Amino acid sequence: MVKRKAEVEAILKKYGQEHLLNNFDKLDEAHKEKLLDEIENIDFELIQSLYESTNKKHKREDDKIEPMEYLDKYKLNEKYKYYENIGKKAIKEGKLAAVTMAGGQGTRLGHDGPKGTFDIGLDSHKSLFELLCDSLKEEGKKYGVTIPWFIMTSRENNDDTIKFFEKNKYFGYQKDKNIFFFVQGELPMIDTEGKIILNEEGLVKLAADGHGGIYESLVKSGMTYKMKSMGIEWVFIGGVDNCLVKMVDPVLMGIAIDKKVTVACKSVVKANPHEKVGVFCKKNGRPNVIEYSEITDEMAEATDDNGELLYGESHILCNLFSVEAIERMGANPLPYHVAFKKATYMDKNGEIVVPDSPNAYKFEAFLFDAFGVVDEMAILRVKREEEFAPVKNADSAGVDCPKTARELYKKFYHLD
Ligand code: UTP
Repeated sequence: MVKRKAEVEAILKKYGQEHLLNNFDKLDEAHKEKLLDEIENIDFELIQSLYESTNKKHKREDDKIEPMEYLDKYKLNEKYKYYENIGKKAIKEGKLAAVTMAGGQGTRLGHDGPKGTFDIGLDSHKSLFELLCDSLKEEGKKYGVTIPWFIMTSRENNDDTIKFFEKNKYFGYQKDKNIFFFVQGELPMIDTEGKIILNEEGLVKLAADGHGGIYESLVKSGMTYKMKSMGIEWVFIGGVDNCLVKMVDPVLMGIAIDKKVTVACKSVVKANPHEKVGVFCKKNGRPNVIEYSEITDEMAEATDDNGELLYGESHILCNLFSVEAIERMGANPLPYHVAFKKATYMDKNGEIVVPDSPNAYKFEAFLFDAFGVVDEMAILRVKREEEFAPVKNADSAGVDCPKTARELYKKFYHLD
């Protein structure tokens, strides 16, 4: 241990992070080992460049942004059946799996526990996980298959998530047969001086690396390998917090297969030109999603000859990928976006500090930043009231909250 500690000290000195061992002697043996492990696993060069990025403004003027073509699910006419039949065949052949991203912190909702365990207040009191599973089971029945379900957790919520599933007997699924859990990656949080912070236990304060971490963690955890060995070719990836998510959509799948694209995404039309959502576009000729904060009013309001918004297709985290596309995306590092957050930490005297305003940077990759890896993708516009009922905020916010999601869910399933 002494030799190892000396080696770690040398690394820390090189990067100006010596404070990480300030409280080392107060830790028990297991924590000492763990802290050394964590430090050895940190990519300090990356942390340094991420810190530098917190001071830089992104210059976007040079990017060429153009609208992206899309298909409207309800204007496909005779093609609807054509695509649907192609998709149905592939689903019946067991080529589709679902992935639910459930590693987020759900800070806006403020629920104590993994977001998927949240009860949106239906009479059944089903959790988000159960609502998603109900829909998977119902769809699977239609095609005579069990849709394999992969769930991404974070280190923070993995144990609670698995306990919840165990308690609920995996909602009829079987662990390691058709339901699989994998843990996403993490990055250290840093303070405004670029110093990595410690958590309440005196270990490195790590935070999930964003939903963009999905590709790398699917590959690194061996899930893509498993998928291929199960004969899975297509993977629907969605969030845990959209209680109307349709993970099994033969039309979307049929389009992807027929058009020979490796990614097909669903969109809903923007509620109004200035709705705060990311929209699909082409950036420098490649598929992308542009954030609402990054387009001008003029672009946001621009319409085509039919009066449709040119940049009106919102990205709703409902995306279908070929396994091969996931592997390619997992091999390319994504850029990280920075968020300034409140983070409880242990200071250099070993005291726990609970800040009342943001004090630390968290770095997250966004799933859609990988879209540019492929040349072409298909976009399918679906109906918001059928497929998009997100639970992001507490009810007090009045939008994208349990109340709005519950109403949409009840309306769709005629529960009143
Ligand atoms: P959001 O970006 O809405 O984040 O995630 P969130 O964690 O649910 O909520 P806030 O921002 O802290 O309030 C969209 C989807 O991506 C997943 C979430 O679980 C949700 O299903 N996600 C997000 C992850 O799986 N990992 C992450 O690191 C971030």
